[in-house]
Amino acid sequence: MGFVDYEQEGYVGIITINRPKALNALNSEVLKDLEAVIDAVDLDATRALILTGAGEKSFVAGADIGEMSTLTKAEGEAFGKIGNDVFRKIETLPIPVIAAVNGFALGGGCEISMSCDIRICSDNAVFGQPEVGLGITPGFGGTQRLARIVGVGKAKEMIYTAFNIKADEAYRIGLVNAVYTQEELMPKAKKLAARIAQNAPIAVRNCKKAINDGLDVSMDEAIVIEEKLFGDCFETEDQRAGMGNFLEKDKSKKLKVVPFQNK
Ligand code: CAA
Repeated sequence: MGFVDYEQEGYVGIITINRPKALNALNSEVLKDLEAVIDAVDLDATRALILTGAGEKSFVAGADIGEMSTLTKAEGEAFGKIGNDVFRKIETLPIPVIAAVNGFALGGGCEISMSCDIRICSDNAVFGQPEVGLGITPGFGGTQRLARIVGVGKAKEMIYTAFNIKADEAYRIGLVNAVYTQEELMPKAKKLAARIAQNAPIAVRNCKKAINDGLDVSMDEAIVIEEKLFGDCFETEDQRAGMGNFLEKDKSKKLKVVPFQNK
């Protein structure tokens, strides 16, 4: 569809932002296509998603500077809301999303990667929030998510200076979980997604919800969220099958993929 491609490989969906002539920069149309692709994901048949960018040079080089250049105050706010709504949709999808960052992840590109559950990148990746050099603030969640991921001090340094960082520094500060060669990146992303997809899908979803919702509240409230989602699992076939396999001491069965079961 338009600027965003979707492929399904077994239980794993691969979303590719495909506007390589503009280094996959996000204009309103790309954001609209991205939202439509996300809305169309069959959540009963998909257990993990990979988000990447087309081409070898760029993941996403940010929000579209040409489109933003003439915005009024109200239009700027509305454009920020469009990006924020789509990124929040990614963040709150019930299934895990892995960002496979294959090059520039600047401004909105760094921000979209941070709305994903896990980031891995290629060795040519460059991360940064260059907005203050353009006379604006990060507008698609960067002022909020970067501090939560790498800590307030480092986030403020990156945002105030607008300095970009390379893959090894992104790894060092915990912005990405792993760095691979360009050739290795997608196979490694698929392997990670497949590993997630092997596990009990309702349990994985409940883990995502427990971690995300728990981070927004006090520890006292967070552990109650965990207790409810933990309890929820005991109504599933996955729990009976998973524990049954262990108790039968059948190693071959223990590795069996537990089929997705609606409660
Ligand atoms: N918006 C629109 N077009 C962009 C773009 C962007 N963010 N980034 C790259 N492009 C376009 C370029 O204009 C160029 O188009 P033409 O061929 O038509 O001239 C094409 O992509 C290739 O880019 P370059 O020729 O600049 O490639 P390069 O290799 O010399 O440089 C780069 C690559 C360092 C990523 C450079 O393109 C760059 O600095 N891009 C802008 C990065 C940026 O500032 N991003 C943040 C945007 S603000 C934001 O995202 C706000 C927010 O939080 C919502």
